[in-house]
Amino acid sequence: MYVLGIESSCDETSAAVAELDGGKRRIAADIVASQIDVHRLYGGVVPEIAGRAHIEAVSRITREALDTAGIKLSDIGLVAVTSHPGLIGALLVGVNFAKSLAVANGIPLVGVDHVRAHIAAAYTAYEDLEPPFLGVVLSGGHTSFYIVDGYASFHEIGSTRDDAAGEAFDKIGRVIGLPYPGGAAMDRLAAEGNPTRYKLPSPALAGDTLDFSFSGLKTAALNLIHNAADRGEAIDRADLAASFTTVIAEALSKKLGMALDATGLKTVVVAGGVSANSHLRAAAQKVCAAHGVRLCLPPLSFCGDNAAMVAVQGYYEYLCGARAASDLNASAV
Ligand code: KG4
Ligand code: ZN
Repeated sequence: MYVLGIESSCDETSAAVAELDGGKRRIAADIVASQIDVHRLYGGVVPEIAGRAHIEAVSRITREALDTAGIKLSDIGLVAVTSHPGLIGALLVGVNFAKSLAVANGIPLVGVDHVRAHIAAAYTAYEDLEPPFLGVVLSGGHTSFYIVDGYASFHEIGSTRDDAAGEAFDKIGRVIGLPYPGGAAMDRLAAEGNPTRYKLPSPALAGDTLDFSFSGLKTAALNLIHNAADRGEAIDRADLAASFTTVIAEALSKKLGMALDATGLKTVVVAGGVSANSHLRAAAQKVCAAHGVRLCLPPLSFCGDNAAMVAVQGYYEYLCGARAASDLNASAV
């Protein structure tokens, strides 16, 4: 079956065609129109601009995805669209577009949870991957652990109580003068710095919880930067990036180890935009090797927002009985 995926939850408009049948998982097209250059001027995503840019791009890139896949709209057996969570004005563009397309052409429709879709990105790279496994989502909006015990069955066992890892990377990146979004630039800068130079608090909450809190770490890093400026001293940006990244990598390692011990799961998927971070990927690899479990990391091109992951998760939700009608709505949470 050919599945058309549509993604518009934040600052990337994406349309993809996936060919999915039984064990077959083939991404025939994945077109991403990024708005990063526009939002960079403002140092962050401007919701109204995002919504407008999605409207301008969605029809064109859907056409492009169908052409790249070499198929017609009438070949599509399912339309899958991100319906939540995300920026409401941005989500509504994708949801209304997908709804019109599906209803007008008599194609079944499913609404997809963006966080679940991030995890589904791993199915595209690991043909034999199937639940149960431990799912870890590190993104601009989420830092969460899930027991994934079925393709459409997720149980959250840990999450951040405030900011997400991506927000923390972006905030500190911005304050030290890196272009938006700061995550990827922080990753490169951290490789050149001394990770023990600055002492920062761990975002791993103490005790046997699997929860995180990034607000304390963010504030501590900001105070360090501002206090140095008050003294007329320059902060070493690479050392700060390295120290900041290391404390996050250590927190992830600790909670990942605890989650594996608690669940006994033998496979881990780490996904989401922040899972592209080379230091966090290495940390996850180390923990999984020490626990003798299999680690599945989506390829870098599928870590950030894309519609291929939406098509894949939508397909499994559909197989599990999900159906959306013309009253499908978007939801920010
Ligand atoms: O999953 P995503 O594309 O969007 C959300 O669903 O939020 O994640 C975007 C986040 C941004 O905060 C971005 O800075 C971060 O992922 N990111 C990274 C890296 N690449 C992207 N963070 C750390 N290291 C990276 N290499
Ligand atoms: Zn995302």
